[in-house]
Amino acid sequence: MRILVFGGTGYIGSHTCVELAARGHDLVVADNLCNSSPRVLERLQAITGAPVAFRNVDLRDRAATEGLLSGDGFDAVVHFAALKSVGESCERPLDYFDNNISGTLNLLQAMRSAGVRRLVFSSSATVYGDPDRVPVTEDAPLRVTNPYGRTKLVMEQLIGDLCTADPGFQAGILRYFNPAGAHASGLIGEDPAGIPNNLMPYICQVAVGRRAKLSVFGGDWPTVDGTGVRDYIHVLDLARAHADALDTLERTGAGFTVNLGTGTGVSVLQLVQAFERASGRPVPYEIVDRRAGDVAEVYADPAQAQALLGWRAQLDVDAMCRDAWRWQSMNPTGYADPD
Ligand code: NAD
Ligand code: WQD
Repeated sequence: MRILVFGGTGYIGSHTCVELAARGHDLVVADNLCNSSPRVLERLQAITGAPVAFRNVDLRDRAATEGLLSGDGFDAVVHFAALKSVGESCERPLDYFDNNISGTLNLLQAMRSAGVRRLVFSSSATVYGDPDRVPVTEDAPLRVTNPYGRTKLVMEQLIGDLCTADPGFQAGILRYFNPAGAHASGLIGEDPAGIPNNLMPYICQVAVGRRAKLSVFGGDWPTVDGTGVRDYIHVLDLARAHADALDTLERTGAGFTVNLGTGTGVSVLQLVQAFERASGRPVPYEIVDRRAGDVAEVYADPAQAQALLGWRAQLDVDAMCRDAWRWQSMNPTGYADPD
């Protein structure tokens, strides 16, 4: 297939490009580089052995997005492009509504104009908010707790309405749990700007000496050891799921919504211990107050992804820690030059 990967220089998008290229797809990556580096393109070329076509396009630019789609013969779009910081979304909700929701509307309109009717969309377990029970199934109530989450829920709904109105339009909605890890080459990985919000990149930066210690947000949750429990999913397993989702859309002609997780909950302290084993480095930590908006325990029931896509996670937290550490130790300052 000829595939447009919007947001393809980002963390999950770049790993997905490797998988799609390995399966013989023809790719065009589009991104405005607001949260990624152009160096990703050199690294992708090194991994895949071929240059990756790149267009610097902002999803909010309707004319540019239409121009990108028109006349290029795309069979499908994989849509990663979004702002994703929960905290920032609470401070600047309008920017999130504009970038994520208006941007997606532009993309859907451009797809309709160009006659491209197959979409794989990055959603998130954030649409479940604080779930009533775990493991979380796809029919659990959707209730968002912050503007970022609201953008994901609204985008899912817009896409759903479009599919209802136009049965020829097929969408695979993928609800990721907690992505972690990196490509085994150590050439691409997660490179957050500023202080990491998420646990794994924070642990990596402590282990590599960029930060003194990890703050563990709460030691009194009703969990196995009092720290928060999540479903960490290797980015390579996620990448594979996108390729499987495209194959499934092509084979069945029917859209779907699936959770992408391992089905296993891991606590903060269990992840710290796994990382120390994998890296051979100490990860000093301190237990501090709970973070506003956090929940005790979230992990997926991934049965629907297995049933519909034939996909299941293959890599465990030890592999995530090993690969995240390889990336971080080979690239202590991420894609940026060292100071
Ligand atoms: P990322 O920030 O690394 O990648 C997103 C990419 O989109 C970046 O390269 C950014 O420059 C680009 N982008 C953003 N706005 C754009 C715009 N207006 N025009 C063009 N490009 C734009 O994030 P990621 O972790 O790879 O996440 C990818 C997708 O998965 C996002 O939609 C995110 O919301 C979703 N998601 C991420 C996680 C996570 O924890 N990483 C979890 C669940 C869902
Ligand atoms: C994991 C656990 C923290 C950092 C977020 C978004 C969600 C999705 C994935 C996009 C929790 C604890 C964390 C730290 C800590 N993103 N923690 N110290 O909160 O499950 O999900 O990212 O869609 O929408 O909300 O992930 O990695 O931030 O936290 O103790 O410095 O680690 O309290 O228990 P979260 P996370």
